Amino acid sequence: MASGGVEGSAELRIDGAAKRFGEVAALDGVSLQVARGELLTILGPSGSGKTTLLKVVAGFEKPDAGSVKIDGVEITALPPARRDIGMVFQNYALFPHLTVERNVAFPLEMRNVTKAEIARRVAEALALVELAGYEQRLPRQLSGGQQQRVALARAIVFNPRLLLLDEPFGALDRKLRETMQLEVRRLQRRLGLTTIFITHDQEEALVLSDRIAVMNKGTIQQIATTTEIYERPANDFVADFVGESNIFHGTMSGTGVVTLEGGRQLRVSTSAVPGKRVGVLMRPERFASGGINAFAGEVVESVYLGTSFKLRLACEDGLELLVRQPARGELPAPGARATFGIDPDAIHVF
Ligand SMILES: Nc1ncnc2c1ncn2[C@@H]1O[C@H](COP(=O)(O)OP(=O)(O)OP(=O)(O)O)[C@@H](O)[C@H]1O
Ligand SMILES: [Mg+2]
Repeated sequence: MASGGVEGSAELRIDGAAKRFGEVAALDGVSLQVARGELLTILGPSGSGKTTLLKVVAGFEKPDAGSVKIDGVEITALPPARRDIGMVFQNYALFPHLTVERNVAFPLEMRNVTKAEIARRVAEALALVELAGYEQRLPRQLSGGQQQRVALARAIVFNPRLLLLDEPFGALDRKLRETMQLEVRRLQRRLGLTTIFITHDQEEALVLSDRIAVMNKGTIQQIATTTEIYERPANDFVADFVGESNIFHGTMSGTGVVTLEGGRQLRVSTSAVPGKRVGVLMRPERFASGGINAFAGEVVESVYLGTSFKLRLACEDGLELLVRQPARGELPAPGARATFGIDPDAIHVF
């Protein structure tokens, strides 16, 4: 393994990938690029086509149309073993009867690497995932997080050009999951590995990624940096899927004014022209008590979440708002009256 080197890592380009299973369009014309050394997360609900996309990249599924290129060279027809891609699956898929050492050595044995070189590289990979000393254990003698680190070591030991991770931490508890996320990020940066990480957990996507591709029904809805996805989602689906949201629809009724369905007017800062139909996104944490764009109403639900209060506010005009406030003082009880405002700059119009 070239430690710290970016030279082994590659750029990936997918153009117009399509794949049908009977009536289902698992991939419906997917195009994307992952830059050398970048970590791209694919985020989407169950059945949106995430695994199918990874399988097309890894060569386990042949696309009906479209192409996959690594560093500009088309590999769409190349068998998986010849693609030099490291992959970690959701269920670890370690060989249960092989020791940690033999599991990690496996891809090198497949590639006819010499014994001495295998020993050196396995030791290096195990050190990277902080499992030196566990060489002789069997998978069942390890915790879930340790097993997942073995799977990771096995995926990077042969210095792959690409690393593909399909919901690798799905089976881990929250705390371990967070530790593993940071570890993967550190390792990926250190090795400069071009990586695709699949998840349906939006928090995981925000923590890990350089960019996020949001998928739904076999298509990419938006591909952008984490902040762009969160602050400026392209449509209802992305706004709703990533983070908590208040989404309303209306019409631009003047410069910087939206009239929502139901008649309420909101001041916004956008260049959208009067008459245009728009969506309006207000993140719950962007509200302050009082101020401009005031929403007055009754608290119908309130929850204490340690660092914040989460409130549901029913307004007189029938709008319901989700609001998050820093936890200070008393938690407003259901039935209490409250007014929250939001700055025009904090409202995203799409
Ligand atoms: N081998 C197959 N045969 C038939 N249908 C399939 C096959 N593989 C996937 N599909 C279908 O294609 C669609 C996309 O599946 P895919 O596994 O890519 O989804 P996913 O986004 O990975 O979902 P999850 O989050 O549940 O893993 C689904 O509707 C699925 O049922
Ligand atoms: Mg999947």
